[in-house]
Amino acid sequence: MFDDNDDDIRPVTWHDGAIRIIDQTALPGRLTYLDLNKVDALIAAIQRLAVRGAPALGVAGAYGVALALQNGERDRIADLRAARPTAVNLMAGVDRASARIDEGFEAVLAEAHAMLDQEVTANRTLSAYGADWLLGRLNTRRPLRLLTHCNAGALATAGWGTALGVVRDLHDRGLVEVVYVDETRPLLQGTRLTAWELDRLGIPHLVQADGAAAGTIVSGLVDAAIVGADRVAANGDTANKIGTLGVALACAHAEAPFLVAAPTSTVDLATPSGAQIQVEQRAEAEILGHSAPAASRAHNPAFD
Ligand code: MRU
Repeated sequence: MFDDNDDDIRPVTWHDGAIRIIDQTALPGRLTYLDLNKVDALIAAIQRLAVRGAPALGVAGAYGVALALQNGERDRIADLRAARPTAVNLMAGVDRASARIDEGFEAVLAEAHAMLDQEVTANRTLSAYGADWLLGRLNTRRPLRLLTHCNAGALATAGWGTALGVVRDLHDRGLVEVVYVDETRPLLQGTRLTAWELDRLGIPHLVQADGAAAGTIVSGLVDAAIVGADRVAANGDTANKIGTLGVALACAHAEAPFLVAAPTSTVDLATPSGAQIQVEQRAEAEILGHSAPAASRAHNPAFD
């Protein structure tokens, strides 16, 4: 357990025979934990985004296989693997843990623990690498004005963060002036989660509407954009939260660096290009809410 002053956010851990997650739907209002004792409870938590973000889903998937073995619920593993289709980490985590099923529960649990540790180490490494790359690309040592979309922080990973990991690394070197945080429609991962993480870390930030991002970038207010990824195909095509494409296009137009910060666990060499990445379509109600006319329909792809 961490208290409110502890940076060591662990969104997914194993605790007393259950998967303990931070309930990300309750943030930023309440920091609460849920102990998930059944595979179906984990599937439901994944689908309502109580646990979310590609690397966090990978670790949850691996622990889910341990839970399935412990409870005699092996028939639920296929549905767990398919709970969200875009982030390759979920499938990879389930497959990695499943490869040890014949060795028994303890071996599967050890594999999940190892995966968690490796993800945190990878985040630290890629963050330093990304920060160095960006400083070299921009050829500067002044504090940077950055933009991020969605949440690719500690909450979305096993701990520390990917895109926000790069931001944290730069901040630790005194090299962050401000982070523009896209609110990230429709579920506000930027407003609720990224802003919460940056606030805890004392990193200056401005939350903005997604529709503001292009103008912020093109008018020269941003040195670089940094985002995470749900899947990187073999040719480098990348899927990330809906709205990321617009950020990339604006950066291309402004000739500003657009950095995808992701661990190798998010790279999927079996998928040749972005055209083969399945984009999750989510419920229309997430878009329509209580505002749209009753007869309106919605288009709600979760990634681009
Ligand atoms: O729908 P979400 O909130 O799971 O989408 C998450 C993202 O798009 C993240 O940017 C991505 O998973 C990378 S997390 C390090």
